[in-house]
Amino acid sequence: TPHTPDQVRALVEIAEALAREAGALVSDGRRNVTVSATKSSAQDVVTAMDFASEALLRTRLAELRPHDAILGEEEAFHPGTSGITWVVDPIDGTVNYLYGHSPYAVSVAAVMGPDPTVAPDPATWTALAGAVFSPEDGRSFTAGLGLGATLDGRVLRVNPPRSLIDSLVGTGFGYVASRRRVQGRIVAELLPRVRDIRRAGCASLDLCAVAAGGLDLYYERGLQPWDLAAGALIAQEAGAQVTGLRGGQAQEAMTVAGVPGAVEELRSILESLDADSDA
Ligand code: IPD
Ligand code: CA
Ligand code: CA
Ligand code: CA
Repeated sequence: TPHTPDQVRALVEIAEALAREAGALVSDGRRNVTVSATKSSAQDVVTAMDFASEALLRTRLAELRPHDAILGEEEAFHPGTSGITWVVDPIDGTVNYLYGHSPYAVSVAAVMGPDPTVAPDPATWTALAGAVFSPEDGRSFTAGLGLGATLDGRVLRVNPPRSLIDSLVGTGFGYVASRRRVQGRIVAELLPRVRDIRRAGCASLDLCAVAAGGLDLYYERGLQPWDLAAGALIAQEAGAQVTGLRGGQAQEAMTVAGVPGAVEELRSILESLDADSDA
C-alpha cells in the first residue's frame, strides 16, 4: 500500500505523541526504579517501568489504531490486519535509566511488512514513521518516509562527508556475553583508525545523533527491531546511509549508519573483520 504524505504525517504525529507520553511516565518513575528480572544475561535487566511504558503504548495504540499490529520488546507480538505494525521500545537504554546515567529514550515507529500477520523484520520492512523522545532533556526526534527528519521541529541534516580518521564513531555492545569478546576485538581494530569512539548506551539516540551531526558514524551488532526502527528512519531521512554488511539491510547481524564517504570505509573494515559473524 503506498501511503500519501498526509497519511505518513498522521503516523508521525501519533508516534511523537505516544513517545512523549510514555517518556513522561518513565521519567516520573525514575526515582524508585528497581530491577524486575534479567534477560539475555544477568546484566541485561528490565524494570517495572519498562513494562508500564509498553502497557501504556499498547493501550493508546489499541484506541487510536485498532487494526494495526504491535511489536514491542517486553510483550508478545500483537497481530493486526492493516499491514502496519508499530514497533516500540518502551525504554531504550534501561541500564542508563537504572543508574541515572545519561541518555535513555522511548522509541516508537510504524512500519509496513511484506506479511501483515507476522512480526515484521528490519531486513524486509519499510519504515513509514518514527519518533524518539529523550525525557532527560525533552528532545523529540521524528521522521516520516520521504518527509525528512526533525528535532523539535527543526530539520536535521547529517555532517558533511568526511574520512574515517576524522570521524567520531558511536557503537554499542548488547548484553549477549558470548559476543562481547568479538566486539572488543573490533573496537581494538577500529580505535586507531578513527577520531574517537563513544558508547552512550541507547541505540535509538545513537542513530538520532548521526542524524543531528553529534556522531559521524554508528555501528552495532545485535540490534533488535525496536532498537533501530525509529532511529534508522530518522538517520536515513537526515541523509545518512543506513545498511548492514555485504549489501544487506540494517538488522540484527549489523547496523551501520553514517555520513557518505566514512560509512563506506567503516563498512569495508567491518566486512574484512567479519563483524557480522560470531566467529
Ligand atoms: C539496549 C540499548 C543499548 C544497546 C543494546 C540494546 P535496551 O536497549 O539500546 O545501547 O547497545 O544493544 O539492547 O535493552 O536498553 O532497550
Ligand atoms: Ca532491554
Ligand atoms: Ca533497546
Ligand atoms: Ca528496551
